[in-house]
Order: sequence, then structure tokens, then C-alpha cells
Amino acid sequence: MMEKPKDWVFSDPRLQDLRQEYDQYTPEDFKVWKILFERQMPNLPKAASKAYLEGVEKVGFTANEIANFEELNQVLEKTTGWAVQVVPGLIDDDLFFGLLNNKRFPSSTWLRKMSQLDYLEEPDMFHDAFAHMPMLTNQPYVDFLEKLSGIALKHIEDPWAIQLLSRIYWFTIEFGLIREEGELKIYGAGILSSAGETKFSLSNEPAHYPYDVRRILNQEYWKDKFQDKYFVIESYEQLYESLPEIEKVLVEMLRSGK
Ligand SMILES: [Fe+2]
Repeated sequence: MMEKPKDWVFSDPRLQDLRQEYDQYTPEDFKVWKILFERQMPNLPKAASKAYLEGVEKVGFTANEIANFEELNQVLEKTTGWAVQVVPGLIDDDLFFGLLNNKRFPSSTWLRKMSQLDYLEEPDMFHDAFAHMPMLTNQPYVDFLEKLSGIALKHIEDPWAIQLLSRIYWFTIEFGLIREEGELKIYGAGILSSAGETKFSLSNEPAHYPYDVRRILNQEYWKDKFQDKYFVIESYEQLYESLPEIEKVLVEMLRSGK
């Protein structure tokens, strides 16, 4: 079978040429960004991973300005060569992993309303930008994301394989913790965009397990409440170095029909 060229995603008809219409943001949008920013940012110097905090410095997010993707892309281009790709909302798995595999992070541009400050069905740009983008300045982290997506694309016809791999994505990119100088810190975007889960994830209530590929691949997760367990990495290099094991255990599980 011929392999598709890696950049097939850019000529896929489902990928629309969308951009962030910055002048369309309303005063309510700015207010929502500011409220969420001011509620969460003060928690982060103590709670977030150094990689995230350094990333925030680099991308220059502030309370008064909704993240500007054009400016953001200039920073990302210079640091890791990544960029933000505007998408209409949730997209198909092959498009999602196809973008990541080409160093494009899919993001929405809309913001939740004042009436939805605390609960959302779909991630808005406060999650996509505030929580995800600063991490895209960290090289081993983005290298992991790119290659993990490459594994997903190899198995894209198999929904079970994608479900298993989404567990890895979930317990790292979205809900991952890291140990830094002996202390637990957050790098998962699902936690970083939630003031409540920021506090909860670092408390003694949930279980904290060492990063373990086999365990994660066998671990279901849920989307509608806080996790009851988190997996802790020692470094971002550890994620990258675990890629061969991810592929190996995945193939093993698929073969055994587990
Ligand atoms: Fe996310």
C-alpha cells in the first residue's frame, strides 16, 4: 500500500481556510477572557509546570487581550516551528491527528458566554489557547505530540486503536502532571483551564501514579467530572522516549483483542 504524503491534511477538502477574526470579538468576549484569566493565572505560578509558565512568558498572554493567533504564530514559529490552525470546533480524528502530525495545533476561536463560565460541552478558545498554546513552546513536548499523532494515523481506520491512543493523549496532553524538584506540577491543558481541577488534581484526594504506558492504555477515562487518578511524568523527554513502548503495547493489545 502506498503511504499518503505526510502533508495530505492541507489539501483535504474538510479543512477550511478559517482565521481568527479578531475585530469580531465583543466586549462580552473580552470580559469572559479577562474573568477566566484573572481567576486562573494567580494559581499557576505555584501549580503549573515550568514549561507552561515559561511558555506563557514567551507567548505574552495578558488579561486584557484575548490571545491573538497571528502574534502567537510568530512566537511559535520561532520557538518550535509549530502554528495554530483555526478549526470550526470538534473535527474528525484523522484531521485532528493529521494536523498535529504536521505541527499544527487545531483551535477554536469562539469564547464561552458569561452564562457558561464554569461548564462547557466543547472546548472553547480559553481552553485551546490559554491552556494548550504555552506548552507548544516546549520542544520535547511538541515532538511527543507530533509522533504520537503519527502512530494514531497509522491506525486511523481502527476506532478501538484510536480509543486506546486517546487514553494516552488524555492522561498526558489534557490531564498530565509532572514532578519538578520533588513537587507535583500541572502540564495537562484540561487541568490548566479549570481553576477547580487545578486545586483538586494536586490535592491528596485523587491517586497519583507514575507514568506507565501499559497502565494508561488500559485505563478508561471520563469527560464529565474530575479524574480520580492522574499520571505523573518525570520529564518531557520521558514522554518522547515512551513512544516506541506506546506503539509496542498498542499493537500487542490490538493483536490480543483486548
Ligand atoms: Fe484540549
